[in-house]
Amino acid sequence: MARILTGIQSSGRPHLGNIMGAILPTVELSLAPSHEAFIFIADLHSLTSSRDAAQRLESVRAVAASWLAFGIDTNRSVFYRQSQIPEVCELTWYLSCFAPYPMLANAHSFKDKSDNLALVNAGLFTYPILMAADILLYDAELVPVGKDQKQHLEITKDIGAAINLHYKQPLFVLPEPRISEKTPLVPGTDGRKMSKSYQNTVDIFLPKNQLKKQVMSIVTDSTPLEEPKNPETCHVFNLFELVASTADTQTLREKYLGGNFGYGHAKTALLDVLVDKYAEQNQLFNSYMNDTAALDAALKKGEEKARTIARTKLARVREIMGF
Ligand code: ADP
Ligand code: TRP
Repeated sequence: MARILTGIQSSGRPHLGNIMGAILPTVELSLAPSHEAFIFIADLHSLTSSRDAAQRLESVRAVAASWLAFGIDTNRSVFYRQSQIPEVCELTWYLSCFAPYPMLANAHSFKDKSDNLALVNAGLFTYPILMAADILLYDAELVPVGKDQKQHLEITKDIGAAINLHYKQPLFVLPEPRISEKTPLVPGTDGRKMSKSYQNTVDIFLPKNQLKKQVMSIVTDSTPLEEPKNPETCHVFNLFELVASTADTQTLREKYLGGNFGYGHAKTALLDVLVDKYAEQNQLFNSYMNDTAALDAALKKGEEKARTIARTKLARVREIMGF
């Protein structure tokens, strides 16, 4: 039985990148009989970038509703909020004393923001250690994430291995990332990685008229309508290919190459496939968002199991480190 674990920060509504890069691959793995899944909402991590309490609680609901809409089974998977298992904070301290400064200074999560150091809080700097604690606390073996998290997994392994080596025993399981081959980095409406921080997201939980606005804002080049177009370099086509069937993708490719087919037509095709494909999840998401009691109950279910495992592991860490 392999233990898989992943988390998503409560920093807004999950977008198509989160869904294709993390939620869908995790749900698929979690339903395999040979896997046991730990799925949590990284609300402590979200404090590194957002201090608004009401916004955080709303985001926790949105992330929880997304997981449920995409079909995690809360009877089988351990589903919880990171902050409800505060043992993770204590473990973060122990791990931080084994994390060399240069390793943290080299982390993208810090480096990307380090051009204005006055805006970097210590939580942002030590972000990867809290993530390592999330993983090592539960002996996770496989961590399904998008490609952008690969470095954080390397940091996790380095810290875990350093402690195992120091105390000469296999205290921590060293996890492997599981990066979806098809969707390592879903492009956003401007062609960069789709990310909440770039405001280039596609939100499939919106009503069609609002989703349309996002799809229509996808950046394209100025090739005239009559001319053939290169599908491979077009962000609209790249997104279409990720969500549509092979046959529909081939038909669209031929239209691009044939000319007399504008980007507006391609965007309409993308909008239609998004609405069609995620109609059920859109409806489920919105009904969960209106049912706080159901969301709370779903999140409560996993807490006890998570807490029991966390306490046992932490007791072992304390003993080995001499506390
Ligand atoms: P964001 O960059 O929007 O803040 P998060 O950091 O909360 O997203 O990411 C949550 C999960 O979704 C992580 O596993 C991350 O790797 C994955 N993910 C985020 N953006 C993308 C993307 N554009 N393509 C693929 N996976 C992504
Ligand atoms: N850092 C991850 C992100 O921004 C979220 C996260 C926190 C996570 N703890 C984790 C992902 C543990 C996997 C495992 O996407």
